Amino acid sequence: MAVGIFDSGLGGLTVLEAAQKRLPDVDFIYLADSEHAPYGVRTADDIYELTCAAVQRLFDAGCDLVILACNTASAAALRRMQEGWIPEGKRVLGVFVPLIEALTERDWGDNSPPREVDVQHVALFATPATVASRAFQRELAFRAIGVDVEAQACGGVVDAIEGGDFILAEAMVRSHVDALTRKMPKPQAAILGCTHYPLMLDAFQEALGADVKVFSQANLVGESLADYLTRHGDKIGSGEPAYLTTGDPKQVSNRATQFLRRQITFTAA
Ligand code: DGL
Repeated sequence: MAVGIFDSGLGGLTVLEAAQKRLPDVDFIYLADSEHAPYGVRTADDIYELTCAAVQRLFDAGCDLVILACNTASAAALRRMQEGWIPEGKRVLGVFVPLIEALTERDWGDNSPPREVDVQHVALFATPATVASRAFQRELAFRAIGVDVEAQACGGVVDAIEGGDFILAEAMVRSHVDALTRKMPKPQAAILGCTHYPLMLDAFQEALGADVKVFSQANLVGESLADYLTRHGDKIGSGEPAYLTTGDPKQVSNRATQFLRRQITFTAA
């Protein structure tokens, strides 16, 4: 049985890479909804409809577990999906919780009451839709008290990455960090709350300075997924991933190959 990994575009490949390293024998099917990316500037209703359609495509391909490797979909659609859309016997998980557990020094699935934690000033960088949902602050409030979060909606960064323009993406990261530090001059930690942003990790770290701890999702989600799969039956296969896109497979394959510096071949979803 394969595990589905979904993102609006190529950002979720950062999560897939980490999951593959951690779980080399699991069959993953990656789906990029490239035709409709970016999601981060869409309405919550739109994101919900698109995410359900994409997840259904992964169910149809034989996945009974799908990871939304997209914070925008996790923030704007997951709760609504869990409240009534997900069919019996299927699971859909988001990428927020592992990140917040790491930030609040919790073990996986520790649901004890919120408590004080080491970090008090946290910068959140995410898409406009993720920031507008306030889902990060909601999940954090279940686990920690007294944490001040300043969120920066990073419009344009995903478009620049999907368009392969890394110079523009870096310039945008610098300007978003600058805008954030005008509101919160000394963040102790920064959350990269979009799975595209690990591709810009160095630019974020450089602009924030070496003393800011930057939390990026890929490895954290890989660990949580490994933990989940060990406890929920067996997903062992040949370890051969499949890559699907709703966009132009040739163009998406070229970009993905450029990002990950190894040949990645997408086919039409
Ligand atoms: N990687 C998605 C996320 O984590 C990208 C969002 C977008 O398509 O704007 O939010």
